[in-house]
Amino acid sequence: MRKRGDGGWSQRAGSVLSTRYGLEVAFSILVGVLMGALWSFFNPRCYTTTSIALDKLQHLNSELTTLREENIELKVHLKRAEQERDAALKQRESLGLVKKVGPVGTVKSLRTQPLVQPNEDANPKLAEILSKVAPDKELVVGIANNNVRSMVNIWFSSLKRAGVSNYLLVALDDQIAHFCKSNQVPFYRRDATIAAIQKDTGDNHAISGLKFHLLREFLELGYSVLLSDVDILFFQNPFLHLYRDCDVESMSDGYNNQTAYGYDDVSDDPKMGWARYAHTMRIWVFNSGLFYIRPTIPSIELLDRVTSRLSKEKAWDQAVFNEELFRPSHPGYEGLHASLRVMDYYLFMNSKVMFTIVRKDANFDGFLPVALHVNYHPDKYERMLALINYFVNGKKDALKAFPDGSEWR
Ligand SMILES: *[C@@H]1O[C@H](CO)[C@@H](O)[C@H](O)[C@H]1NC(C)=O
Repeated sequence: MRKRGDGGWSQRAGSVLSTRYGLEVAFSILVGVLMGALWSFFNPRCYTTTSIALDKLQHLNSELTTLREENIELKVHLKRAEQERDAALKQRESLGLVKKVGPVGTVKSLRTQPLVQPNEDANPKLAEILSKVAPDKELVVGIANNNVRSMVNIWFSSLKRAGVSNYLLVALDDQIAHFCKSNQVPFYRRDATIAAIQKDTGDNHAISGLKFHLLREFLELGYSVLLSDVDILFFQNPFLHLYRDCDVESMSDGYNNQTAYGYDDVSDDPKMGWARYAHTMRIWVFNSGLFYIRPTIPSIELLDRVTSRLSKEKAWDQAVFNEELFRPSHPGYEGLHASLRVMDYYLFMNSKVMFTIVRKDANFDGFLPVALHVNYHPDKYERMLALINYFVNGKKDALKAFPDGSEWR
């Protein structure tokens, strides 16, 4: 543990030094350019020199941005390498022959399942796109049609701002594909094939059902996906904050330790007298709008189960997703038993946590979530804009106008 910490420190120190050095260089160049600009302003013949200098400045600025991004990429690489090594060690231990049990405290079961072998032939077109967008075999994936174009716009702008380059939008119609193209957003044009039974469950739910089917294509190609609805804002690079040790790592609809991570909910039946209290396990659902899914057999089986049920039942995809994740085997049913992790509910925040807790608590001054999902409120677009003002533009009163919940009529 200590070794790891030291490595982290020296890497941070190195990055601080190189950033500072870069800033100093950029600053001196900026001063030079400004002086040149002033001079040329009074001396129009020099206009071309100035424009060349401005080009140079722009180039340097973009180089600095690249450096900063590379730094984050390095950190992601380091973290992933450590996580993969730990997982490989555990897999090797548990996949071996039948073993004797070690002493108490040394026994660990396998929760990081091995990855499937990629099958490029499954979808060569997507394989080609992904090899460019996600060289590290993981990416953010959003799915949208042109109806939600304005939200898509703030969604990918937030990803760009957070320094994320490995993301992709599955474009369900030509208009949104064109919109992506003109904004340099990586996209994959794909037609929506919505199961007949889901057709009148409303546009949103229909797309949600489709996403499990679509995700399979990514997993088959060997990619891990951070699936993201487009009513989500990113403020930090999410890949620095994943554990990658489970089949599914998901944000929660919960709003405190109990509801997000699970608790013993005691039910009371007084007529039972001595045995009136029955203990139940309870957890607020995994939010199917933001989850990281690794290309493993249990993950793919999950997607297939959800897709298959949504093609036959008129159901809410998030409910089906959770049932398949949490139900154990019982008569007539074989449980999935995928390994699960709940994301930190402050880092991967839902809008109930944001509007009922975080914005009112001075302890959160200066806190920056990794991602924020406007899932608890219907006025999504307005709240997303306000949240950008709050977190990015430092407007501390940007959220004042919004009530905790929605005014239900
Ligand atoms: C919630 O759990 C975290 C650890 O997961 C702990 O650090 C924190 O103190 C807990 N908060 C409360 C209010 O119990």
